[in-house]
Order: sequence, then C-alpha cells, then structure tokens
Amino acid sequence: MSPSGVLHSHSIATMGADGIGPEVVDASVRVLQTLAQLDGSFHLDFHNFDWSSRTYKKTGSYIPQGGLDELRKHDAILFGAVGAPDVPDHISLWGLRLAICQPFQQYANVRPTKIFRGTKSPLRQANHGDLDWLIVRENSEGEYAGQGGRSHRGQPWETATEVAIFSRHAVDRIMRFAFQSARTRPRKLLTVVTKSNAQRNGMVLWDEVAAEVAKDFPDVKWDKMLVDAMTCRMVLNPKSLDTIVATNLHADILSDLAAALAGSIGIAPTSNLDPTRQFPSMFEPIHGSAFDITGKGVANPVATFWTAAEMLTWLGEERAAKKMMDAVEAVTERGITTPDLGGSAGTKEVTDAVCEELEKIYRQHSRK
Ligand SMILES: NC(=O)c1ccc[n+]([C@@H]2O[C@H](COP(=O)([O-])OP(=O)(O)OC[C@H]3O[C@@H](n4cnc5c(N)ncnc54)[C@H](O)[C@@H]3O)[C@@H](O)[C@H]2O)c1
Repeated sequence: MSPSGVLHSHSIATMGADGIGPEVVDASVRVLQTLAQLDGSFHLDFHNFDWSSRTYKKTGSYIPQGGLDELRKHDAILFGAVGAPDVPDHISLWGLRLAICQPFQQYANVRPTKIFRGTKSPLRQANHGDLDWLIVRENSEGEYAGQGGRSHRGQPWETATEVAIFSRHAVDRIMRFAFQSARTRPRKLLTVVTKSNAQRNGMVLWDEVAAEVAKDFPDVKWDKMLVDAMTCRMVLNPKSLDTIVATNLHADILSDLAAALAGSIGIAPTSNLDPTRQFPSMFEPIHGSAFDITGKGVANPVATFWTAAEMLTWLGEERAAKKMMDAVEAVTERGITTPDLGGSAGTKEVTDAVCEELEKIYRQHSRK
C-alpha cells in the first residue's frame, strides 16, 4: 500500500512464446499471483500476448501490426523464450526478442548469478556465497547491431560481413550503468571485459571510455580483463569477481558460463532494462526454448522466478521481491529441485513448494 493508502497496481504483459517458455512463465505467474495475494499491498494485472514461432508460421510475422504500441502500454514484460526447431534461429531471435529489446531501448541487460543454498556448483571449491556476480551486458549494439550483409550468394566466393558497432554514446551509458550497479553492491568492485589486444578499434574505445567514466566513481574499485583470460578467472578464482561489464556478445557467452558454474542454466535470470523508463523493461530467463525437454514437465522454473523477482524490484516492490527469493531459496535448500540441478522434482512440484514457502513466510510475518 502506498503512503496514501492506495493499492499499487502493475500491468504485466506475459509472453511465454516457444518451447518451455510458456511452462516457466505460467509457473511464475502462479507464484506472482500467490505473492500479491498474500502481501496485499500491490496488485498485478496480467495480459497475455500470444506471439511465438507458431504465430510466425501462421501469419509470416512474430509481432502483428501495431503490436509494439499495445505492448508499450504495460509496466513490464515477462518473457519466456523464442526459438523453434523448424524456424532458423536468426529469424526467431530478430523476429521477436530483439524486435522488442531494440525499439524499446532496453540497452542494459543485467544478469545476476549465485549458487543457491542446497545446490552444488561444478567447481570443487565454490559453495553458496562464493560466487555472487552481476554481469552487465551491453544490449543495443556491438556484435548484435544487425549490420552487415551477404553477397555472391551460393558462389564459391560468397562473402558475408558481420559488423560490430561501438558508439561512444552507447559505451558511455552502459559503462555508467555498470559503475552505478557496482556502487550499490557491498564490494563496489567492477571488472571491465574487452578484447582490446586483437580488436583494436571498438574494444580500445571501451577501454578508454571505462577509464574516463571511472573518474566519476572513485569509490568503485575496477580492473580490466581480456575476455579469454576472463573465462579462466571465472573458473579458477570466482571469489575475485563481483560486477562485470562486457559487450553484447562477450557478456552473452560469459553469462551462460556463469550460470553453468552456479549449477545450471535453469536458474539464471535476465533483465532487459530501459533505465530511462520511457519504455517497459523486459524480464526473462537466460535460457532458450529447450526443445529437448519441452512438454516433459521438468523445466526448471527458478530462472524465471528470479527474473520475476527482479521485475518486482524494478517496479518498486523490493520487499515482496525479497520474500519471493527467500521462498525460492528455502525450496532449493530443502532439495526440491528439477533434474538439471540434480533433483527429481518437476516444474509443478517446485512451483507448489515455492507457493507453500511463501505462505509460511507471510504467516510468520503476520505473527511478528
Ligand atoms: N532469449 C531467448 O529467447 C533464447 C536464448 C537462448 C536460446 N534461444 C533459442 O532456444 C532454442 C534452443 O537453444 P539452445 O538449445 O542453444 O539453448 P537452451 O537454453 O534452450 O538449452 C540448452 C540446454 O539447457 C537445458 N535447459 C535450458 N533451460 C532449462 C531449464 N529451465 N531447465 C532445465 N534445463 C534447461 C536444455 O534442456 C538444453 O539441454 C534455439 O532456437 C535458440 O535460438 C532463445
């Protein structure tokens, strides 16, 4: 409830899209509804958008005419995953996910990682608390700017270019976002990742902008790593890292590695943020549509629960978001996990258990 006694209401666009996307988004909507009901201080209004590879195959496009204007009316977007075995991946990615992220100026892609209580990292010496990272990925240009082309198609001399774009404007704003994010975390520690030995233009601009921006954040300790060396540091010395900033491609790869080192890709969330708040931001798990487990009821919903909690925080409901994460972690601690984390529970059992934990948390809270 706001100080004026008015119930906050947030309008959420949901879009499960493909594969396990609808399974994990539906599970998250259930948890969010339970949470909002128990908490009683805010209301969530869900509106489902049926945009997917099925829509593409039926109509020739993922997003209908005027669709983005409709989507824009919502406060946030909860997204599943896009990608189908019979649609080329570059068509699905550019047709739906990037077709939302880019026009909505969601330039900051934020990917936290941690080892949940009760789960194991594949790293021998990393336990709960030892790997707690925040990866900030530039989400508007770089290697995914969409610049390039193909000529002489089908000929032996066919040529393709994929041009990475690095503008001072975009590098500066993501660097400021990363320093600011590092500043809000206890360790105030940022690692700037590039490949400025081999890529001597765009990546050198990144290094220069990082050094300039750092002057405005004297309280943040920062260092630089080349992306190849960074993979070794993540594996061999995870405790030495906290906040990490990297390009669209580098951070995309490093964050999958981060998720695997924390136990599974099924636990890692993503926020695609428009920090100006002109457009709705979009929240999704980092995993894809996982064709191999679609419909089997074993998709790990934890990544989408975590991203839904990040969404609540973005919408100003930090207290409820924290309770949601406490409930998720209580469930992993009890060993109720899906097979990717070594457990034998299904999506539904994990979801039921999180709802039960929420009820417990609110019961305890009301007794205090
Ligand atoms: N943001 C997105 O929408 C996004 C991201 C990545 C991949 N994709 C698309 O998804 C499709 C499949 O891609 P992929 O196989 O490279 O990656 P993927 O993330 O879908 O799957 C990789 C592996 O991780 C497992 N996995 C993923 N999520 C899981 C979960 N929640 N619980 C348990 N196991 C899980 C899968 O079963 C699979 O073995 C492709 O079409 C790809 O383009 C979409």
